[in-house]
Formats: sequence, C-alpha cells, structure tokens
Amino acid sequence: MKIAVLTSGGDAPGMNAAIRAISRYAIYKGWDVFGVHRGYQGLLEGDFSRIGLRDVGGIIGAGGTILGSSRSPEFQTPEGREEALKQLRENRFDVLVIIGGNGTQKGSFSLFQMGFPVIGVASTIDNDLYGSDITIGVDTALNVALEAIDRIKVTASSHGRVFAVEVMGRDCGYIALMAGIAGGAEVIIIPEIHFDIQKMISDIQETYKRGKHHAIIVTAEGAHCNADELSRYFLNNRELSGFELRTTVLGYVQRGATPNLFDRILATRLGVAAVEAVAQKNYGVLVGMHKSEIITTPLETVVSRKKELDLQLLKTAEILSK
Ligand code: F6P
Repeated sequence: MKIAVLTSGGDAPGMNAAIRAISRYAIYKGWDVFGVHRGYQGLLEGDFSRIGLRDVGGIIGAGGTILGSSRSPEFQTPEGREEALKQLRENRFDVLVIIGGNGTQKGSFSLFQMGFPVIGVASTIDNDLYGSDITIGVDTALNVALEAIDRIKVTASSHGRVFAVEVMGRDCGYIALMAGIAGGAEVIIIPEIHFDIQKMISDIQETYKRGKHHAIIVTAEGAHCNADELSRYFLNNRELSGFELRTTVLGYVQRGATPNLFDRILATRLGVAAVEAVAQKNYGVLVGMHKSEIITTPLETVVSRKKELDLQLLKTAEILSK
C-alpha cells in the first residue's frame, strides 16, 4: 500500500500530531507513506516526498503543519483537479489522506467522485465541519482566545472601559460563542444571528448603572458587527453611547499556537483511525469524533450538511452575563 498525506486550508494546532500518527501507524502496517507539500497546490504540481519514521520525530508538539498548506484557486478548476488526479495515478498512490476543514473536504469529495480513494481527517479551528463534534485545533485556539479575553478583562475593569475582542470565524461563531461564555463576556456577536447595536449600547448602559465597571464584547470576524464595524460606529456615535470603545483583533495568534493535550490526543486518535479506515478500504469518508467516539461519515453527507451552533447557549450567555 502506498499512501499520500496532505494538509490544506487554514493550518490548525494538532495537524502535525495527525501527520505523525498517520505516518507512523501506516509504516507500522508495512506501508509506504508520502507527504504532499503545500496542500492541493502541491498535489497538482506533484510535490511529494517520502516520510520515514524519523521525519515525523519531535513534531507532536509543534503548531502549524510541516507539510505546508495553501488555498489553491487552481484546484478549484476542473483542469486543476484533473491534474491532481493525474499526479496521484502517475505516482501510483493507492489512497490520499486529507487533513483539513470545510473547503478542504469539499476537495476530498471531488477527488473521490472522480474515482480516487480518499479519507478525510477533521481539522479546522472554526469547528464548522459536519461529521465531527470537535475538530483538530479548536481546543487550542479557544484557549488562546480565552487567555486573551481574561487579560483584556483585567485592564478593561481597571479603566472602566468597553472592549471588543475579535476572534476568528469567517462563517461560524463557534469560537466567539465558546470563548465569550468562558470569558464571561457581556456581549457575544456571531455571524449566525442578526445583531442590534443600539440594543447592545442600552444593555451596556444598564450594566454600568447596575455597578459593573467594564464590558467585554466578543465578536467573530465574520459577524456583521466585527471589530472594524464596531469601532466605526462608536467613533461616529460617541454622544449616543457615552462610551469609548477599544478593540483587539486576535487573528492568527489563535491559529499558530502550540497544540494542547486535547488536540494532540484527538489528532493522534483521528490519525490512527484514518489508517484503519484505509486498511478496511472504507473510502470516501471523514474521520471525526462524536460523543467521545471516533466515527466515520460519508464525505457526501459532510459536504452537503451544515453543522449548527447550539444557539440556546447564546441565550444562556446573555442571561448569565448580567
Ligand atoms: O482556518 C479557518 C480560518 O482561520 C478562519 O477562521 C479565517 O476566516 C480564515 O481561516 C482565514 O484564512 P486565511 O488563512 O486564508 O487568511
């Protein structure tokens, strides 16, 4: 058996632990393992190299991905995907294991539909991938966001200020919701829900009247009222709000962190399960976790369903933030 491993899309803490688990477990089975460099772009350019046991030494605790990643516009085209398929066939690979999130697994499904055996491994800090309750990288990214929120709360409280902290999440408010709840945020803004800025201002005014000395707004980058929008609004409506707003955009610091224990274990378990799926010829599936068990879900289901946020938690957060 000759397998190729690829990471694509936004890197996530724990991707390396997954590469290590897949490589060493496949070598233990007596198979040949190759890494594809720079995601789908490297795949269609035939950028492969053999992975031996020592090549993945010391990477379990490293953030990012040793294979590199990309967002490849060329792979989005039918010609690009044909080229990728040609490379896989010419190099006589039996299966491709693809570690990544939503966009990445759409690519996995395209290759599978074109007749190539693939296995997906659930990894994105956004946690918006159907087929896994939690994906590789989420827990670490959340803890980075939480630590930042805790620190900002200290200074916000010292000065009696209103702070907006923008976390990652282009289409999904998972990080904002969870980090917001755990950080005791007064306001949480997510892309999934329409947001009323005027109501937020009166709520904050109420909070101050009740004796609070700070307010933390946690907003997702993809929300209509992200840090940029909020700054603009507060600047133009200072007399309305009576507040001065300060903002912090956390951005990529959440993605580049050292994977924590949870992500290293999750990545290891999913990596080993991906190799077992190859052994069973259970192709065209995503390996993920559901209720603490490792499961596989057909990629067709994964790409056609949306993972819903538990919006009841937003209500709970609102009640508890008083
Ligand atoms: O990996 C997911 C994510 O971090 C999103 O939260 C974010 O919107 C996006 O990737 C940023 O992507 P890029 O690395 O292409 O700037």
